[in-house]
Amino acid sequence: MYYPEELIEEVRSKNDIVDVVSGYVRLQKKGGNYWACCPFHGEKTPSFSVSGSRQMYHCFGCGVSGNVYTFVMQYENFSFPEAVKLLAERAGVTLPEVEYSEEQKRKAGKKARLLEINREAAKFFYVQLRSSRGTVGFQYLRKRELSDETMQRFGLGYAGKNGAELVQYLRSKGFEDDLIKEAGVASFSEKYGLVSQFWNRVMFPIQDINNRVIGFGGRVMGDGEPKYLNSPETQVFDKRRNLYGLNFARKARSGNIILCEGYMDVIAMHQAGFSQAVASLGTAFTPEQASLLKRYTENVLLAYDSDGAGVKAALRGIGILREAGLTGKVINMKPYKDPDEFMKALGREAFQERIDQAENSFFFEIRILAEQYDMSDPEAKTRFHREIAKRLCGFSEDAERDNYLQAIGEKYFIGIENLRKLVTGYAAQTGLAKPVERPRSGIRRKNDPEENARRNQRLLITWITDQPAVYQKVKKYIGVEDFTEELYRKVAERLFADLDAGSFNPAGIISTFEDEQEQHEAAQLFHASLPALATRQEREKAFHDILLSVKRNSYEYFSSRLGSDVNAMNKMVEGRRALEELAKLHISLD
Ligand code: CTP
Ligand code: MN
Repeated sequence: MYYPEELIEEVRSKNDIVDVVSGYVRLQKKGGNYWACCPFHGEKTPSFSVSGSRQMYHCFGCGVSGNVYTFVMQYENFSFPEAVKLLAERAGVTLPEVEYSEEQKRKAGKKARLLEINREAAKFFYVQLRSSRGTVGFQYLRKRELSDETMQRFGLGYAGKNGAELVQYLRSKGFEDDLIKEAGVASFSEKYGLVSQFWNRVMFPIQDINNRVIGFGGRVMGDGEPKYLNSPETQVFDKRRNLYGLNFARKARSGNIILCEGYMDVIAMHQAGFSQAVASLGTAFTPEQASLLKRYTENVLLAYDSDGAGVKAALRGIGILREAGLTGKVINMKPYKDPDEFMKALGREAFQERIDQAENSFFFEIRILAEQYDMSDPEAKTRFHREIAKRLCGFSEDAERDNYLQAIGEKYFIGIENLRKLVTGYAAQTGLAKPVERPRSGIRRKNDPEENARRNQRLLITWITDQPAVYQKVKKYIGVEDFTEELYRKVAERLFADLDAGSFNPAGIISTFEDEQEQHEAAQLFHASLPALATRQEREKAFHDILLSVKRNSYEYFSSRLGSDVNAMNKMVEGRRALEELAKLHISLD
C-alpha cells in the first residue's frame, strides 16, 4: 500500500459516497438508497444504487460494485493512488510524502522506468511520423483512410529507417542500455550494438486501461515479413492480460464490447464511432482477457476475420467467453475480410446492422459444425444430430436447453421429439439418468461444485453484512478458515474482526486490497443476490442451507488435504462436529 491504512480509511470516511457519486450522476432517493442510471453501462431505467449506510454502490444491471475509491477509479479511469489523491484533496486531507521500502522502491522504480521508456519511445515515434522523414508512414496511414484525429487519438507513430536513433534518443534522456533493452524496444546485435528492432514501420503504441504505453506493434508499409512486429513481454507488458483499445472501450457505455483480431480493425471501428472495439495483442484471446472484459460488460461480440483461420479463432473465443460466464455473439463480416475492410466498403450503418444481427454463439457453432457433414448421407446426418444432442447436454438448465433444442430442431428440420430422445439417450449413455443432472460441460457453470462453494461463501458474507446481528449467532460454527477461497477468507477475516470489535465497515474492507481486480471481487462479496423469500421460515431455512453448505465444503476441503496439511486433521474433526451440531440447530433471524 502506498499510504498507511489508517489514512486511506480516514480519506474514505471523509468522502461520503452519496456526495461523491452525485457529483457525477443524478441520484434519486428511493427507500433507504439512492438510484441512478448506471454510469458504467448503457441503460434507460435506473438499476445503479448507492447506499449511504454501507457507503457502497452496486449496479443490479451490470454487477459493478464497490466503495468511493473504486467508483472514482472506474469513473475517472484512475489507479488507486490517483483516486486517493483526488479524494484526499476533496476532503482537505494532506497526504504525506510517500516512504517506500528499499524493495518497493526498486520494484516500483523499475516498473516506472520501463513505463517512462515506453512513453518516451512513443513520443519519439509520434514526432517522427509528423516530421518530413515520416512522410512515408503518414501517407501509408492516410491511404488506409485514417484521419489526423484518429492517428492522434491512438498515438500512432513512425519508426525511421535507422534503428539506432531511438536508442540515441533514449540515452539522451538518461536511460541506461540495460533498461532500454529490458523495455523491449531495442536489443543488442554483434554488428550494430544496441539498436531498435523497430525500423521503417508505422508504430501502434499499446496502452493499458490507464492509458500508459506498455508496448508496441509495428507494421511494415506494404508487403514484407513479418507484417507486424510486437514488443516482447516485459515487466510492464503482459500480453495475456491487456487488450488493445480497452482504455477507450471501457468508457464507451455501449452495452457490449466488440472483440476484433487486429489493431487496424480496432482503429477503423473507433473512427467509425464504435469505440467499444478491442483486440488481443498479436496473440490468441485468453481467459485472462475474458475476465478483464467481464469487468466492463456481459456481452461480447466477436468481429473476427471471415476466413477459415478467423472462424477457428472465433470458435476458440466463444469457448473462452462461455467459461468466463460471458454471452458471446458473432458478427458476420462477409463478403469482407475484416472489420476494417467492411467499414471502408459499407460504412457504419451497415456495420450497426451486422451488430444487430449478430449470431448467437451456440447457433454459430452448430452452423459451422453442419458444414462438416454430408446431409445427403443418412449416416452422416445421424452423426450430426447426435453431436447436436451431445452439445445440448451442455446446458445445465432445463428451460434453456429445451429452448435451444426447439430452435435448433426447427432450423435443421430435426423432429423435436427425436432430438429430445437423442439428448436423453446421450445423457443416459454417459452414465447420467437425466440430462438435467449432467454437470457442466463449459456451457454454464451453474453445476460446477467449486463455483457453488464460492457462491455459498459469497452469499454468507452478503447475508452477514445485511444482517450483522446474525454474526453473533453463527460465529461459534463458522470461522474465517471456512472460507476456502483465499480472497473471501481475507474479507471474512476483516469483517469478523470488525464485528468482534463491535464495528461494521464493509466499504473500508474493500480499500485494504491493493489490486483493482481484487477490490472489485471483494466488493462483489457484499452484493451476492440473496434469495427473495417472503416468510421468515423460508429465510431461516435458506440461511441454514447456506451455512451448512459452507461448512460442508470446508470440511470436505480439509478432509481432502489430510496428509498435506498438519492442521487439516484438527480442522476436519472440528468441522465434522460443527457440521453435526449445525445440522440440528435452529437459527432464528429476527
Ligand atoms: N499479427 C502479429 N504478427 C503478424 C501478423 C499479425 O502480431 N505477423 C497480429 C497483429 O496484432 C494484427 C493481428 O494479428 O493486428 C491481425 O492480423 P491480420 O489480420 O493479418 O492483420 P490486420 O489487423 O488485418 O492488419 P492489416 O489490416 O494492417 O493487414
Ligand atoms: Mn486488416
